[in-house]
This record gives sequence, structure tokens and C-alpha cells, in this order.
Amino acid sequence: MTKNYPTVSEEYSKAVEKAKKKLRSLIAEKSCAPLMLRLAWHSAGTFDVKTKTGGPFGTMRYSAELAHGANNGLDIAVRLLESIKEQFPILSYADFYQLAGVVGVEITGGPEVPFHPGREDKPEPPPEGRLPDATKGSDHLRDVFGHMGLSDKDIVALSGGHTLVRSKFQIVS
Ligand code: HEM
Repeated sequence: MTKNYPTVSEEYSKAVEKAKKKLRSLIAEKSCAPLMLRLAWHSAGTFDVKTKTGGPFGTMRYSAELAHGANNGLDIAVRLLESIKEQFPILSYADFYQLAGVVGVEITGGPEVPFHPGREDKPEPPPEGRLPDATKGSDHLRDVFGHMGLSDKDIVALSGGHTLVRSKFQIVS
């Protein structure tokens, strides 16, 4: 499948590379790679393929989205990242939060995730209730990920993100 990624200026690409270096230091120093991956995922996981609403478009910076039950603790990630983000006004929050997730995977020894910049910040957070509920079963997961336009295969692959989780949480059904 051919994907059409947005194009960004050279200045923007350079800022991405510089921000990446700073993110590596911050995430290593604070040992917060899992938190950053969760931020990136909870930003993206609200996407609804039918209405094209929600998704990784920087809305997690708003207190309304941070207050969603599933996002408990992500205010810490947003706060930690702000010290670097303010040095790169050219970058969208949308790109920056995803970049933090990519760096989190990288510095914990995961695969190098290709990063495609060019996301624009949206002005409105999505409604609450689009992320999966860990207390429900596989039908629920299929339903929630289906709204994102994702398949069973995608659920399994993405759940690999939990290799970074320090707790004993696991998906059993
Ligand atoms: C498949 C549906 C999913 C459910 C039901 C789910 C549920 C949860 C829950 C309940 C926790 C908190 C565990 C605890 O108490 O420590 C958690 C943490 C986490 N999840 Fe998921 N998750 C899902 C998918 C994903 C995906 C797709 C990713 C990333 C690709 C991801 C990445 C993480 C990470 C990195 C943490 C740890 C955050 C930290 O320690 O600060 N999860 N997840």
C-alpha cells in the first residue's frame, strides 16, 4: 500500500532531529520511556476512522483530554515534555508527542520506528471513551480498534507496547 506522507520544510526536519536528541537525554534521565509511549498511544488511539475525528493531533495538551479517566498520569508526560517543546515552536504538539513515543521505543532497545512528521494540531480534544477498557474482553478490543480502522493483527502487534510496562498488567482474553 502506498502511503502519502505530508512534506515538511528543511527547517522543520532539522528541528525534528534536534528535538530527538534532546528527547533521548530527557527520557533516559527521567527513565520515562513507558510513560512517553503511553502518551503517544493514548493520543493516537482516539482516532475514529469514519468521522476522521480524534487521533494524534496534539490535543493531549488540553486539560479536558488529560482529565479522561484513561489518561491518568499523562499530565506528567506533558509537563516533562514542555521544557523541550518550548525550544521548538516550529514543531506541532502532534508531531512532538509521537516523536517522544518513537524515542521511548528506541532508547529501550526496541526497533527504530520510522517517523513521518507533518501532523497538524487540532483545536478540540476528542470525546472521552474511545480508548480500550482493560476490564473488558476481546470483543470490546475488536470494537474499539475497529473504530481506529485497525485489525486483529494490529491489536496483537500494538499490544507489544506492553513489553515496556513495569506492572504485571497483561491482556488475557
Ligand atoms: C490493547 C488494548 C490496551 C489496553 C486494554 C491497555 C491497558 C493498559 C493499562 C490498564 C495500563 C496500566 C497498567 C498499570 O497499571 O501499570 C497500560 C499501560 C501501558 N500501556 Fe497499554 N493498553 C492497551 C494498548 C496499548 C498499546 C497499543 C500501547 C502502545 C503501543 C500501550 C502501551 C502502554 C504502556 C507503555 C504502558 C505503561 C505506561 C507506564 O508505565 O507509565 N498500551 N495499558
